[in-house]
Amino acid sequence: MKIVLLGYMGSGKSTLAQLLAENLKLDVIDLDAYIVEREGMSISDLFENKGEIYFRLQESKYLKEILGHENDLILSLGGGTPCYADNMEVIKNRSLSFYLKASIDTLCTRLRNEKAQRPLIASLKEDQLKEFIAKHLFERRSFYEQASSTITIDGKTVEELLEEVLQVLKK
Ligand code: S3P
Repeated sequence: MKIVLLGYMGSGKSTLAQLLAENLKLDVIDLDAYIVEREGMSISDLFENKGEIYFRLQESKYLKEILGHENDLILSLGGGTPCYADNMEVIKNRSLSFYLKASIDTLCTRLRNEKAQRPLIASLKEDQLKEFIAKHLFERRSFYEQASSTITIDGKTVEELLEEVLQVLKK
Protein backbone atom coordinates (compact mmCIF):
# COMPACT_ATOMS: atom_id res chain seq x y z
CA MET A 1 0.00 0.00 0.00
CA LYS A 2 1.14 3.52 -0.75
CA ILE A 3 0.02 6.24 1.63
CA VAL A 4 0.16 9.86 0.46
CA LEU A 5 -0.09 12.88 2.76
CA LEU A 6 -1.21 16.11 1.14
CA GLY A 7 -2.29 19.57 2.21
CA TYR A 8 -1.22 23.19 2.29
CA MET A 9 2.28 24.35 3.21
CA GLY A 10 2.73 24.16 6.97
CA SER A 11 0.09 21.50 7.55
CA GLY A 12 2.68 19.07 8.96
CA LYS A 13 2.82 16.52 6.13
CA SER A 14 6.53 15.68 6.49
CA THR A 15 6.46 15.29 10.29
CA LEU A 16 3.41 13.03 10.27
CA ALA A 17 4.85 11.01 7.36
CA GLN A 18 7.99 10.26 9.39
CA LEU A 19 6.00 9.12 12.40
CA LEU A 20 3.66 7.03 10.28
CA ALA A 21 6.57 5.37 8.52
CA GLU A 22 8.20 4.48 11.84
CA ASN A 23 4.94 3.09 13.17
CA LEU A 24 4.10 1.04 10.08
CA LYS A 25 7.74 0.14 9.39
CA LEU A 26 7.54 1.49 5.87
CA ASP A 27 9.91 3.61 3.82
CA VAL A 28 9.17 7.32 3.70
CA ILE A 29 9.81 9.81 0.93
CA ASP A 30 9.38 13.57 1.13
CA LEU A 31 8.72 14.75 -2.43
CA ASP A 32 10.40 18.14 -1.92
CA ALA A 33 13.53 16.45 -0.51
CA TYR A 34 13.48 13.95 -3.40
CA ILE A 35 13.33 16.82 -5.93
CA VAL A 36 16.17 18.65 -4.18
CA GLU A 37 18.31 15.51 -4.27
CA ARG A 38 17.56 14.65 -7.89
CA GLU A 39 17.91 18.22 -9.15
CA GLY A 40 20.91 19.08 -6.98
CA MET A 41 19.35 22.41 -6.02
CA SER A 42 17.18 23.76 -3.19
CA ILE A 43 13.48 24.43 -3.89
CA SER A 44 14.13 28.18 -3.58
CA ASP A 45 16.99 27.99 -6.09
CA LEU A 46 14.89 25.91 -8.48
CA PHE A 47 12.12 28.54 -8.43
CA GLU A 48 14.61 31.36 -8.82
CA ASN A 49 16.93 29.88 -11.45
CA LYS A 50 14.65 27.62 -13.49
CA GLY A 51 11.21 29.07 -12.76
CA GLU A 52 8.01 27.67 -11.28
CA ILE A 53 6.90 25.92 -14.49
CA TYR A 54 10.10 23.89 -14.60
CA PHE A 55 9.60 23.03 -10.91
CA ARG A 56 5.99 21.88 -11.56
CA LEU A 57 7.08 19.71 -14.49
CA GLN A 58 9.80 18.04 -12.44
CA GLU A 59 7.46 17.67 -9.45
CA SER A 60 4.93 15.83 -11.63
CA LYS A 61 7.62 13.63 -13.19
CA TYR A 62 9.06 12.60 -9.81
CA LEU A 63 5.60 12.00 -8.32
CA LYS A 64 4.85 9.53 -11.12
CA GLU A 65 8.27 7.95 -10.77
CA ILE A 66 7.75 7.34 -7.03
CA LEU A 67 4.13 6.15 -7.29
CA GLY A 68 5.00 3.97 -10.32
CA HIS A 69 7.17 1.62 -8.24
CA GLU A 70 5.62 -1.46 -6.69
CA ASN A 71 6.96 -0.99 -3.14
CA ASP A 72 4.83 0.17 -0.22
CA LEU A 73 5.73 3.56 1.19
CA ILE A 74 4.62 6.77 2.85
CA LEU A 75 4.93 9.84 0.63
CA SER A 76 4.54 13.43 1.77
CA LEU A 77 3.85 15.87 -1.07
CA GLY A 78 4.57 19.54 -1.60
CA GLY A 79 1.60 21.81 -0.95
CA GLY A 80 0.99 22.40 -4.65
CA THR A 81 1.56 18.86 -5.94
CA PRO A 82 -2.11 17.74 -6.14
CA CYS A 83 -3.11 20.93 -7.97
CA TYR A 84 -1.04 20.65 -11.19
CA ALA A 85 -1.12 18.48 -14.32
CA ASP A 86 -2.94 15.17 -13.77
CA ASN A 87 -1.23 14.67 -10.42
CA MET A 88 -4.41 14.27 -8.34
CA GLU A 89 -5.70 11.57 -10.71
CA VAL A 90 -2.41 9.70 -10.34
CA ILE A 91 -2.55 10.06 -6.55
CA LYS A 92 -6.14 8.74 -6.48
CA ASN A 93 -5.33 5.78 -8.74
CA ARG A 94 -2.16 4.66 -7.04
CA SER A 95 -2.46 5.46 -3.34
CA LEU A 96 -4.57 5.93 -0.27
CA SER A 97 -4.39 9.65 0.38
CA PHE A 98 -4.93 11.83 3.45
CA TYR A 99 -5.67 15.55 3.30
CA LEU A 100 -4.26 17.28 6.38
CA LYS A 101 -6.80 20.07 6.68
CA ALA A 102 -5.83 23.17 8.63
CA SER A 103 -7.63 26.44 9.30
CA ILE A 104 -6.27 29.67 7.83
CA ASP A 105 -5.31 30.87 11.33
CA THR A 106 -3.33 27.70 12.06
CA LEU A 107 -1.50 27.93 8.74
CA CYS A 108 -0.81 31.63 9.23
CA THR A 109 0.67 31.08 12.70
CA ARG A 110 2.84 28.21 11.52
CA LEU A 111 4.03 29.81 8.29
CA ARG A 112 4.79 33.23 9.78
CA ASN A 113 8.16 31.98 11.02
CA GLU A 114 8.86 29.57 8.19
CA LYS A 115 8.44 31.74 5.12
CA ALA A 116 12.08 32.03 4.06
CA GLN A 117 12.55 28.61 2.49
CA ARG A 118 9.14 28.71 0.75
CA PRO A 119 9.43 30.75 -2.46
CA LEU A 120 5.68 31.33 -2.91
CA ILE A 121 5.37 33.21 0.37
CA ALA A 122 8.95 34.32 1.13
CA SER A 123 8.47 37.90 -0.04
CA LEU A 124 5.07 38.48 1.59
CA LYS A 125 4.78 40.96 4.42
CA GLU A 126 3.20 39.96 7.71
CA ASP A 127 -0.11 41.70 6.85
CA GLN A 128 -0.32 40.06 3.40
CA LEU A 129 0.19 36.49 4.52
CA LYS A 130 -3.31 35.74 5.82
CA GLU A 131 -5.09 37.01 2.72
CA PHE A 132 -2.67 35.15 0.45
CA ILE A 133 -3.24 31.88 2.31
CA ALA A 134 -7.02 32.37 2.29
CA LYS A 135 -7.16 32.93 -1.49
CA HIS A 136 -4.64 30.23 -2.27
CA LEU A 137 -6.42 27.67 -0.13
CA PHE A 138 -9.71 28.56 -1.80
CA GLU A 139 -8.14 27.77 -5.20
CA ARG A 140 -6.57 24.55 -4.04
CA ARG A 141 -9.26 23.11 -1.79
CA SER A 142 -11.14 21.31 -4.56
CA PHE A 143 -8.01 19.30 -5.33
CA TYR A 144 -7.18 18.54 -1.70
CA GLU A 145 -10.76 17.42 -1.03
CA GLN A 146 -10.41 14.61 -3.56
CA ALA A 147 -8.14 12.74 -1.11
CA SER A 148 -9.45 9.40 0.18
CA SER A 149 -9.70 10.82 3.74
CA THR A 150 -9.57 14.20 5.41
CA ILE A 151 -7.96 14.71 8.82
CA THR A 152 -8.46 18.05 10.58
CA ILE A 153 -5.23 19.05 12.26
CA ASP A 154 -6.07 22.21 14.25
CA GLY A 155 -5.02 21.96 17.90
CA LYS A 156 -3.97 18.31 17.64
CA THR A 157 -0.61 16.78 18.47
CA VAL A 158 1.21 14.73 15.86
CA GLU A 159 0.59 11.63 18.01
CA GLU A 160 -3.18 12.28 17.90
CA LEU A 161 -2.98 12.67 14.12
CA LEU A 162 -1.06 9.41 13.86
CA GLU A 163 -3.85 7.66 15.82
CA GLU A 164 -6.50 9.08 13.49
CA VAL A 165 -4.68 7.88 10.40
CA LEU A 166 -4.15 4.44 11.95
CA GLN A 167 -7.88 4.23 12.75
CA VAL A 168 -8.74 4.93 9.10
CA LEU A 169 -6.25 2.31 7.94
CA LYS A 170 -7.84 -0.31 10.25
CA LYS A 171 -11.27 0.12 8.63
C1 S3P B 1 4.70 24.57 -2.55
C2 S3P B 1 4.93 23.93 -1.35
C3 S3P B 1 6.27 23.51 -0.92
C4 S3P B 1 7.19 23.29 -2.13
C5 S3P B 1 7.19 24.51 -3.01
C6 S3P B 1 5.80 24.83 -3.53
C7 S3P B 1 3.31 24.96 -2.90
O1 S3P B 1 6.17 22.31 -0.16
O2 S3P B 1 6.82 22.15 -2.86
O3 S3P B 1 7.72 25.58 -2.26
O4 S3P B 1 3.04 25.21 -4.09
O5 S3P B 1 2.46 24.99 -1.97
P1 S3P B 1 5.63 22.26 1.39
O6 S3P B 1 4.15 22.12 1.36
O7 S3P B 1 6.30 21.04 1.93
O8 S3P B 1 6.09 23.52 2.04
